[in-house]
Amino acid sequence: MERLLDKLVERHELDKEEIICLLQHLTAERKDRLFHLAVQTRKLHYGESVFLRGLIEFSSFCKQDCLYCGLRRSNPSAQRYRLTEEEILECAEEGYRLGYRSFVLQSGEDYYFTEARLIRIITSMKLRFPEAAITLSIGERSEAFYRALFDAGADRYLLRHETASRSLYQSLHPGMSYDHRVSCLHTLKDIGYQVGAGFMVGLPGQTCEHLAEDLLFLKELHPEMIGIGPFIPHSATPLKDAQGGTVEDTLVMIAMARLLVPEALIPATTAMGTLDPVGREKALGAGCNVVMPILSPLGVRRKYALYENKICMGDEASLCRSCLEMRIAAAGYRIDLSRGDHCSFTGRAGGEPRR
Ligand code: 5AD
Repeated sequence: MERLLDKLVERHELDKEEIICLLQHLTAERKDRLFHLAVQTRKLHYGESVFLRGLIEFSSFCKQDCLYCGLRRSNPSAQRYRLTEEEILECAEEGYRLGYRSFVLQSGEDYYFTEARLIRIITSMKLRFPEAAITLSIGERSEAFYRALFDAGADRYLLRHETASRSLYQSLHPGMSYDHRVSCLHTLKDIGYQVGAGFMVGLPGQTCEHLAEDLLFLKELHPEMIGIGPFIPHSATPLKDAQGGTVEDTLVMIAMARLLVPEALIPATTAMGTLDPVGREKALGAGCNVVMPILSPLGVRRKYALYENKICMGDEASLCRSCLEMRIAAAGYRIDLSRGDHCSFTGRAGGEPRR
């Protein structure tokens, strides 16, 4: 087993059987070693820096019906809202004042936000905050749409693959297609976005083998960003009685992802902080290097409920900033307020971070 860990650190690769074997034989000691190696690897590429991204959840409308998500269209108790373009800009403004130079615009798949509307929002943000990076997380759209938003100035795109098991994917996403999901990720990469993929841990029916497939999917896609979080059952979804994922299992997946894709930007997710008061700190200790404080207006935060009991529901943006700063420093890291580009995207001629 120690040989597998050595191989993982030296070559950043393992095959499916090796990953499964490692996962099935993880003693407490081996886990500690795994986390330690992940942290060392992250330090090699990004030092002690933890990058901050201000998260703006701008619409809770969604046309999809994912079985696990509180925003699914068949959830009549979900409270729907849309921020206006002005409100979105105000959130970014507040974030900018707090020092953030990286914003994530996230929503359900809401076609009210057309290409033209989003181009207007991105253009205004780029005009006001030219040095800030803009990440979109708004689901599956056409190649032309992705391209138009990239041309308008969007830098990055988050689209978790959710699970790399075709059968599990199909059972959780009625009306959606695994192949289309994957093709969106490739399209985004080809266009030149810094791309984020990722998955949930603890989905009903998910086995070690599925998780090994998720890790190998990431290894092959080689995304710039990787989002991994525990599945948290939502009481108004068909998966309300499912068990959900654990912080411990998610930490192992984070560390494995760090070692397989060493240069990735990996956030300590809100879902980790929701299951454990120090879940995000633990995630930093397993190889994460990004934290995403919420900038959405207080009045709508509770309504953006992918899962319940989400943390940071009542904290003003400025409080969020100081709370995170404290947590990150206490965990032994340093806040980095730069754009936080992937290391392969920085240092381009003229300081131009876009391809
Ligand atoms: N528990 C945890 N994560 C969830 N997501 C959606 N619903 C849940 C849930 N119930 C994740 C998905 C999605 C991301 C924005 O949030 O992975 O891609």
